[in-house]
Amino acid sequence: MKGIILAGGHGTRLRPLTLVTSKQLLPIYDQPMIFYPLQTLLKAGIKEVLVIVAPDHARDFLKLLSSGQELGCKFSYEVQDEPNGLAQAFVIGKNFIGHDNVTLILGDNIFEDDFAQAIQSFKQGGRVFVKKVPDPARFGVAEFDQDGKVISIEEKPKQPKSDYAVTGLYIYDNTVVEKVKNLKLSDRGELEITDLNNVYLKEGSLDVAVVKGKWLDTGTFESLFEAITFVRDQRLNEQNKK
Ligand code: G1P
Repeated sequence: MKGIILAGGHGTRLRPLTLVTSKQLLPIYDQPMIFYPLQTLLKAGIKEVLVIVAPDHARDFLKLLSSGQELGCKFSYEVQDEPNGLAQAFVIGKNFIGHDNVTLILGDNIFEDDFAQAIQSFKQGGRVFVKKVPDPARFGVAEFDQDGKVISIEEKPKQPKSDYAVTGLYIYDNTVVEKVKNLKLSDRGELEITDLNNVYLKEGSLDVAVVKGKWLDTGTFESLFEAITFVRDQRLNEQNKK
């Protein structure tokens, strides 16, 4: 299993914090944001990680993460020239993925859960993770049938059909490389991860699991602040246990 961290984009919603640096390098309490999704991959035993960055900040990521040797993994780097959608990660990462399966995590997503089991047991199709949220319109949203089965996913719907957001951790088999080739650009001109998930869903091979612990997408000031206080509370708890 290979891993990709997508850390591109302009972070426009967090300006002026992101005028001179990348969103994924902003501090979340005692670590740069990207360390958290990275740890999610490393804890699951992923050893080869492709970091996809925006051109302006490529050097900073290289300085921070280097080769990966110290962490017992190997980093590769690619540049996403323009933020043309999350699914573009599989176009940019085609050579890196090779014949393997791949886990994509967004560089601004922080998870409390451990996904080692979910990632290591993965065989084929796609696997995504949903979480109940108070503001689903900000996300990809799952629609369920009467039996609780997911029947569709909509990207940032004005009228969400449930409160379950699709989080920024996606596991796909190698067919993802072919599947992205057939995706069309959305109305906002992006290759949408939601469209990709719907391809797997139509094929009957998308597994949907629920995230149990805390999940944060740190794209807004409020969620950034929440993430910092969440990590701080965790650290203080750890210290008190000692
Ligand atoms: C992206 C995806 C969305 C997903 C979210 C998770 O949105 O497009 O489907 O729910 O990540 O963090 P973005 O945060 O890029 O607006």
